[in-house]
Amino acid sequence: MNLAGLVFASVAAVTTFALDNGLMKTPPMGWLAWERFRCNIDCQNDPKNCISENLFIDMADRLFEDGWVELGYNFVNIDDCWSLKKRDQQGRLQPDPERFPGGIKHLSRYMHDRGLKLGIYADMGTYTCMGYPGTPLDKVEIDAQTFANWEVDMLKYDGCYSNATDQAMGYPLMSKALNATGRPIAYSCSWPAYQGGLPPKVNYTQLGEICNLWRNYGDIQDSWSSVLMIIDWVFENQDVLTPAAGPGRWNDPDMLIVGDFGLSMDQSRSQMALWAIMAAPLFMSNDLRTVSSEARSILQNKMVIRINQDELGIQGRRILKEKSNIEVFWRPLSNDYSALVFFSRRTDMPYHYQTSLSKLNYTAGFYKIHDVFTDETKVVNESTVLDVPVNPTGVVMFYVSAKLQIHHFSRGGKLLGAAFNPEENAAPRGFL
Ligand SMILES: *[C@@H]1O[C@H](CO)[C@@H](O)[C@H](O)[C@H]1NC(C)=O
Ligand SMILES: *[C@@H]1O[C@H](CO)[C@@H](O)[C@H](O)[C@H]1NC(C)=O
Ligand SMILES: *[C@@H]1O[C@H](CO)[C@@H](O)[C@H](O)[C@H]1NC(C)=O
Ligand SMILES: *[C@@H]1O[C@H](CO)[C@@H](O)[C@H](O)[C@H]1NC(C)=O
Ligand SMILES: *[C@@H]1O[C@H](CO)[C@@H](O)[C@H](O)[C@H]1NC(C)=O
Repeated sequence: MNLAGLVFASVAAVTTFALDNGLMKTPPMGWLAWERFRCNIDCQNDPKNCISENLFIDMADRLFEDGWVELGYNFVNIDDCWSLKKRDQQGRLQPDPERFPGGIKHLSRYMHDRGLKLGIYADMGTYTCMGYPGTPLDKVEIDAQTFANWEVDMLKYDGCYSNATDQAMGYPLMSKALNATGRPIAYSCSWPAYQGGLPPKVNYTQLGEICNLWRNYGDIQDSWSSVLMIIDWVFENQDVLTPAAGPGRWNDPDMLIVGDFGLSMDQSRSQMALWAIMAAPLFMSNDLRTVSSEARSILQNKMVIRINQDELGIQGRRILKEKSNIEVFWRPLSNDYSALVFFSRRTDMPYHYQTSLSKLNYTAGFYKIHDVFTDETKVVNESTVLDVPVNPTGVVMFYVSAKLQIHHFSRGGKLLGAAFNPEENAAPRGFL
């Protein structure tokens, strides 16, 4: 199939079903506690890093003051280990009063006052993964109502200590219960991750109807091998996963670990670029109080964010796997723009990959190419040889314009010159 055919097929697939709560028309962005702070509840010895309202307030302040919110990073999400081990006398979940003395509603107000949103965590089984009270079938309604009363904006519903039968009832039931509260609450389902992530056990049509995003695969860890495992799984299964995604319904390959300990800067650019190709939610799990300026510049790269947030919401694909261990990924964007990623699995030295737009099935014409990490721009035609130097475990990412409109100036049949019309070739609205 050519590129135009692929675009058409994907668009036809995404316009069919989506959870009707009006939320997450583009992939959500923000910060999520789990990968970096886990279940550290030791506020006596580690007050700055334990799961407590102070941690979420610190991160909210960083998002608000350090330029993250303007870029779209507006969720602050609590994960496991926020509650007491016992429900209250009315059977409601309650936050640990020592670690969350203000309560969850106080936190959501704090977020809302700063243009942020608050996410919370529950589990469809008898217990959460870390042994806190779960939200099994008979608790779905009361917990949904509690979260709405607390003015929470998003729920991650995990699946530890539940079985397939209960999950098949519980995940749709929670979707209904959230809707019934009347409060728009984005809904993240861990369901497919507990069922191997693939049909026939997983029904992506149904997931798109009941969830805004879903985890398909295991938890990310702070290592390059973990990122590689996720990339491998997603792109091996792209024929199943790509059509499942679209506005309001996203595959979630898990958190960004850029800014933590496990990735080099090249690997950090690789995670960011491939998460953008995948139209993935961008939830950072790092310490925004100490994140390095290099990591910050990767996470705050406007053009990568722009690609991730493209309004068509078409998830990209791997289009080439070369013997040289270079892989090429492509994502169609609105206004006939597109994104390309050249990724190296090599472990020797920067590799000069040679290609051209025609080799990548672009039709004949002139295009503007912007290298998103070096900011270099050039105009090429389909047969221009592109020499792309890709570092080991790194990427080069191009933002490619639509075909440029060209005006020819001629007199008496003689060609005098040609020029691009900047008006017609303007970038899509919101770009740069
Ligand atoms: C280009 O199109 C041809 C013919 O449809 C196809 O076989 C090939 O895989 C495509 N190449 C890329 C890089 O998409
Ligand atoms: C609940 O679902 C209905 C119908 O699908 C939809 O119109 C409405 O916006 C939803 N409300 C909320 C709060 O999600
Ligand atoms: C699934 O879990 C529920 C609740 O723990 C239990 O009642 C039910 O028997 C289980 N079903 C299967 C098929 O294991
Ligand atoms: C998947 O879910 C959709 C929508 O709920 C349903 O119409 C379809 O029959 C399901 N497919 C399978 C194979 O169960
Ligand atoms: C395409 O660009 C190359 C240089 O990159 C040039 O040699 C060639 O003439 C151009 N082709 C057309 C049709 O303009």
